[in-house]
Amino acid sequence: MIYLKTPEEIEKMRTASMLTSRTLGEIAKWVAPGITTNRLETIAREFIHDNGGHPSCLGYNGFPAALCYEVNEIVVHGFPSNYTLREGDILGTDLVVDVDGYHGDSCYTFEVGEVAPEVHALLVTTKEALYKGIEAAKAGNRIGDISNAVQTYCEKRGYTVVREMCGHGIGKKMHEEPEVPNYGRRGCGPLIKNGMCIAIEPMINLGSKNVVFEPDGWTCRTRDRRPSAHYEHTCAIIDGKAQPLTTFEFIKEALGQRYI
Ligand code: MF3
Ligand code: CO
Repeated sequence: MIYLKTPEEIEKMRTASMLTSRTLGEIAKWVAPGITTNRLETIAREFIHDNGGHPSCLGYNGFPAALCYEVNEIVVHGFPSNYTLREGDILGTDLVVDVDGYHGDSCYTFEVGEVAPEVHALLVTTKEALYKGIEAAKAGNRIGDISNAVQTYCEKRGYTVVREMCGHGIGKKMHEEPEVPNYGRRGCGPLIKNGMCIAIEPMINLGSKNVVFEPDGWTCRTRDRRPSAHYEHTCAIIDGKAQPLTTFEFIKEALGQRYI
């Protein structure tokens, strides 16, 4: 069942999404060689709490943290740890915040210091693919149009699309229908309508598309251990078009010239 949201509900989604975005902006100030992901977790939890939100992932099916940490070959759902970030790493931080019963979900992959040119190019393409997906999310189109836009954009540039995880509907629940795969055929899947709220989140690999899950049951990494990138916005379909409710503006402000 796909729940279409009222304008009032979309405003609540916007409030939650804004706190998600501001929290990622806070994280952006700290991402640098020498910091641990545990430290980033503490900073994020305090910020969310101080601003009246609740970290939706913490405790969700036993997930132990507010954010997912995706270092280099980690695709999704990595735990924070005492791992110290190093020059040349990439770090995805994926966050869902609940404010007043509605969720906002966003992910950004950061460069830690300077990264290899091929890794930089992967990040740029993955972020561009997110916006290609958003452009395709028009009322009257189908979910497959989003999927195909992301897949085509990335594969044309030689990257591969992770199959095991998808974008999703979002609202009172963090994961609602429909699924929003990053691969698929144009004209297929559910019809996109005004009031739909979806999280679009390309997960794109430099090497092969294959992934494996670590014994902790959560951490998902590339099988070939080559890097993976991940960007995500929560969007609402308003007046026929997808409007991102999350934003990278706070990250841009924090990173200045280092923003890609
Ligand atoms: N941001 C993730 C997503 O887009 C949230 C899943 S993490 C979990 O689906 F721990 F909560 F499952
Ligand atoms: Co999501």
